Amino acid sequence: MTYSVDGVQYVAIAAGYGGALPLVAGALTPEATVNGLNRLAIFRLDGTDSLDVPQVAAREANLPAATALAEVIQNGWAQYERFCAYCHGSSAISSGVLPDLRHSAVSGSRESFEAVVADGAFSARGMPAMGDKIAPQDIEAIRQFVLSRAQAVRQDQ
Ligand code: HEC
Repeated sequence: MTYSVDGVQYVAIAAGYGGALPLVAGALTPEATVNGLNRLAIFRLDGTDSLDVPQVAAREANLPAATALAEVIQNGWAQYERFCAYCHGSSAISSGVLPDLRHSAVSGSRESFEAVVADGAFSARGMPAMGDKIAPQDIEAIRQFVLSRAQAVRQDQ
């Protein structure tokens, strides 16, 4: 869009990647190698500055192996698909619009994962607190499912 303020004309461009399908269907979209490229770039017509290179989140995380029993991981998968897939991607495969939990250091720690998922440590960044909807043992089951998916990525490489 373009608009003017006090006689200066601006052109604003929403740049990046998104929409409902890329959010949920990471496996069907080109898998991103970085997160966080989306931004709003605003130019003024007589401007001379250049844009900063976008800050992207690293996707390397050295996650531990899943330790839970298969039935716990199975339950974690079901809980993940119910509560997380529509933002972080079905089967824990993100297209890069939002963090891919298989590559997030947060997934490596039970305490950090609980702080983010149950208590809303990142709610200011759009990650809802879900402790009132999901029981603590189900949150841990989701984390174990994510760790098992991260292991599958390592085995594919
Ligand atoms: C409504 C969309 C939405 C839902 C549903 C959602 N998340 Fe998130 N999540 C986000 C956003 C947005 C972020 C923060 C992105 C950022 O920091 O740029 C995030 C961040 C995270 C992070 C931190 C990742 C990192 O490396 O910074 C974790 C872990 C996480 N979510 C786990 C979950 C789990 C587990 C579920 C399901 C129980 C879930 N999320 C459901 C939107 C969502």
